[in-house]
Amino acid sequence: MKFPSEPFKIKVVERIRVTTPGQRERILEEAGYNLFLIRSEDCHIDLLTDSGTSAMSDEQWSGVMRGDEAYASSRSFFAFEDRVKELTGFPHVIPTHQGRASERILFSITGGEGKTVPNNTHFDTTRANVEYSGAEAADCAIPEAKTPAVEHPFKGNMDIERLEALIADRSAENIPLVMVTVTNNTSGGQPVSMANLEAVREVCDRHGLPLFLDACRFAENAWFIREREEGWDGKSVAEISRAMFELADGCTMSAKKDGLANIGGFLCFRDPDLAQKARNLLILTEGFPTYGGMAGRDMEAIAQGLQEVVDEDYLAFRINQVRWLGRTVSEAGVPIIQPVGGHAVYLDAGAMLAHIPALEYPGQALAVELYREAGIRGVEIGSVMFARKHPETGEELPADLELVRLAVPRRVYTQSHITYVAEAVQRVYERREAIRGYRITRQAPYLRHFTARFEPL
Ligand SMILES: Cc1ncc(COP(=O)(O)O)c(C=O)c1O
Repeated sequence: MKFPSEPFKIKVVERIRVTTPGQRERILEEAGYNLFLIRSEDCHIDLLTDSGTSAMSDEQWSGVMRGDEAYASSRSFFAFEDRVKELTGFPHVIPTHQGRASERILFSITGGEGKTVPNNTHFDTTRANVEYSGAEAADCAIPEAKTPAVEHPFKGNMDIERLEALIADRSAENIPLVMVTVTNNTSGGQPVSMANLEAVREVCDRHGLPLFLDACRFAENAWFIREREEGWDGKSVAEISRAMFELADGCTMSAKKDGLANIGGFLCFRDPDLAQKARNLLILTEGFPTYGGMAGRDMEAIAQGLQEVVDEDYLAFRINQVRWLGRTVSEAGVPIIQPVGGHAVYLDAGAMLAHIPALEYPGQALAVELYREAGIRGVEIGSVMFARKHPETGEELPADLELVRLAVPRRVYTQSHITYVAEAVQRVYERREAIRGYRITRQAPYLRHFTARFEPL
């Protein structure tokens, strides 16, 4: 088959407003060429993020209606808890309002000055929560993770030697836990192999360290293990997911990704003492332990979403839709992070617009052009987002890579929407030499990418 067919029928539709080139030009100007400042209804296809943007199923919406909103010990909590326990095997399940709330609680009880947390690559909220606790966040991904054009079946893997060297250098008593992010969002939605997880587990056992998963995209990771790793192709995604969780002592989870929900998360533990400490903090900042940061209806939607996300027809469609987009633009010559990851295609703007210097923001220029061409909103992941300041001179130092991420929401867009995106990317690629960079005219001291305003050069 040329296209993976959507394994769902559409019951409710939402109108997309189609804009003209003239309207898009005005919208861009008014937003100061910052796509975060454009209204979602002015986007033809919104690929800003795959987080919280999933379409829920009829069964999930039924769950929403069944939501039990009792303050304590609601039916919906037990439905949610049963499902998370069945999926992960963790005995202690703590509901939170989203992934970063789980991180905040986990690192409040395990982090602190003088500690180091290794991860394959910390997602930015994970890093921020580790650092906010006073601890150091150390990335130990394999070297291939940093080079977009290099192919590797498990480019999200932890570099075991670097992990060992870090433990030797910082000493095991200063490492509260080791974390592995599945899939590795920051390196392009790249999977981690079961063999690598087992190797990390072995290192942790040798040093007496707990292992936690950042499990946001566990099902997509399990799919890649089944597809690419010897010995797993006969197993179900649910079995592979369970095997991943069984290697760990706990996890943080944003249900806005592989929970197929629009909000929610959880934090799991094997250790009852750590779980109790986490519940004590949960009550302070999130809510009572049987709802945490969620309404009963949210917990129902997640319980059902966690069932649907391991459905193999769904995952085959999901992974192939993203892969089809990546392969199609790549075959047309567009440089992307290879291989295509689970939730997004990352265009290598640094390579595609090599004539634009990093500090004239080639990623921003490409993201703007995609909107100008076809009303598509992606996100710059480059020097606008991650430039650093030179510690002495204050001079702006460019990021390692200049990327534009096209994150595909789950079950939202059909194959013809994705074909439209591929065509637009190719059209922009064909006129790449005429594209110019940008200058920042206004910016905030922190997280400037959200509110900065730009001027074309
Ligand atoms: C790998 C990873 N970890 C943690 C988070 C944080 O989750 P949330 O946005 O629900 O706070 C995200 C969100 O994108 C993520 O991709």
